[in-house]
Amino acid sequence: MFITFEGADGVGKTTQMELLRERLEAQGQEVLLTREPGGSPIAEKIRGLLLDRENDMDDMTEAYLYAAARADHVRRVILPALARGCVVLCDRYVDSSLAYQGFGREIGAQAVWEINRQAVGRCMPDRTYLMALGRQEAERRVRARGEMDRMESAGRAFAQRVDEGFALLAQRAPERIMVLDAAQPKEVLARLIAEDVAKLKTCPPDGR
Ligand code: TYD
Repeated sequence: MFITFEGADGVGKTTQMELLRERLEAQGQEVLLTREPGGSPIAEKIRGLLLDRENDMDDMTEAYLYAAARADHVRRVILPALARGCVVLCDRYVDSSLAYQGFGREIGAQAVWEINRQAVGRCMPDRTYLMALGRQEAERRVRARGEMDRMESAGRAFAQRVDEGFALLAQRAPERIMVLDAAQPKEVLARLIAEDVAKLKTCPPDGR
């Protein structure tokens, strides 16, 4: 089972991934926790390029770099882990590219999908949790974390387009993307996610 967590910066994805990992491991399930951009040695190097505020790059270059990192991560880490029987939990995946580069940078979701098609192949998530939070609260949380990276410092209009992009993606793929109100207490969110994962395990979407 391949599960991804999506949403704006500061919505609490990492916390929920950790809680789900603990729960699955307590049930004896092997779990791989990973993230994008990153998750493999070369993808982590590309992550450094993408998030360094010193780096200025064309929007298309940015989109290709996210996809390049993804290609390595998918082939060398995610697919082998799924083949071993791991549940793979990934902090961001191709929906982030569609939302940030497609909508945020205004390249267009279709163009970004074209760039990512080969990187992703047939490796689409069985379930995606989209953690949605009001813009003001998300910004407050990002500021509270301290120094902002290149993407986090792209401004409010950019962040709003990303939020709208995520909402649209969820509307287009309701069978895969479950929207969660990230303002709820973390225990409540963890329970909603755990219940949904239990359902997925008894009835996997593609029989995996
Ligand atoms: P993330 O690791 O979630 O950063 P943080 O821990 O600070 O929340 O992601 C790094 C940034 O990269 C984040 O701002 C979203 C952005 N991003 C894209 O723009 N496109 C992508 O395809 C991915 C995976 C991430």
